[in-house]
Amino acid sequence: MFDTYAEIFAKRAADYHHAMRQSPRARDAEFNAVLEPLRERPLGLICDMPSGGGYLADYLWPGMDYLAVDPATDFFVEWPRPLQRLLAEITKVPLADRSVDYVVSLAGLHHEPSLPDVFREMRRLLRPGGRVVLADVAADTAPARFLNGFVAENCPLGHEGRFLDERTAPALAASGFSVTDDRVIAVPWRFASFDEAGEFCRHLFGMPALGIPETAAAMEREIGFDVDQDGPRLRWILRQIVADVV
Ligand SMILES: C[S@@+](CC[C@H](N)C(=O)[O-])C[C@H]1O[C@@H](n2cnc3c(N)ncnc32)[C@H](O)[C@@H]1O
Repeated sequence: MFDTYAEIFAKRAADYHHAMRQSPRARDAEFNAVLEPLRERPLGLICDMPSGGGYLADYLWPGMDYLAVDPATDFFVEWPRPLQRLLAEITKVPLADRSVDYVVSLAGLHHEPSLPDVFREMRRLLRPGGRVVLADVAADTAPARFLNGFVAENCPLGHEGRFLDERTAPALAASGFSVTDDRVIAVPWRFASFDEAGEFCRHLFGMPALGIPETAAAMEREIGFDVDQDGPRLRWILRQIVADVV
């Protein structure tokens, strides 16, 4: 019997969360990168949307408050810390206008059918002086080809990402933001071994039926690793855009 979409997606969220718990430091570079543009800013409330399991919270500094927003219930099953969280679409967040200081959106916009709707919602939520930091896979890069190719073929849910490109920053500007930075950044995923890399990736991208060596080999072939004394680092890159409330 076929799983319903909800059942498949519930499993997908559980797999993703499993990968993040098994290798909690693998994506340090990504989480640190999206917070970098906020380091010198006044303390306030960061809204993370979509948050997945709220992983960004582990990287905050004292005094920065955190709110997780995600539409998938399964990410909110296990929640080890007393964090604020909202189960909501990122186009319709049940919060008042001008109620947050910063918005961070990491690796979630490529699933979103209407970016202008998301940007309008971010603009509505932000207070004067607010800043948004977006980071996601960039169109026409190795990670984009890997996700819409290898992952699409091997994940039961498929993968049809619409990735960030040169139209993203103008769309943000049209929603009432002033774009201050837009570039592709290196955010390597680090592992102790190739086996850990394969195990992480097959769960993160919902391909649990694939073998570990097979998955690691595809990562090597399609994206590539650098290896140093600490282990392999996957050459993951993202497009990061920073914009301020006009
Ligand atoms: C790759 S995860 C990123 C989560 C987290 N920011 C991270 O970096 O680990 C993608 C997230 O997008 C959410 N999502 C799925 N479909 C979505 C949609 N149409 N709009 C917004 N978020 C969506 C999922 O629930 C999931 O949490």
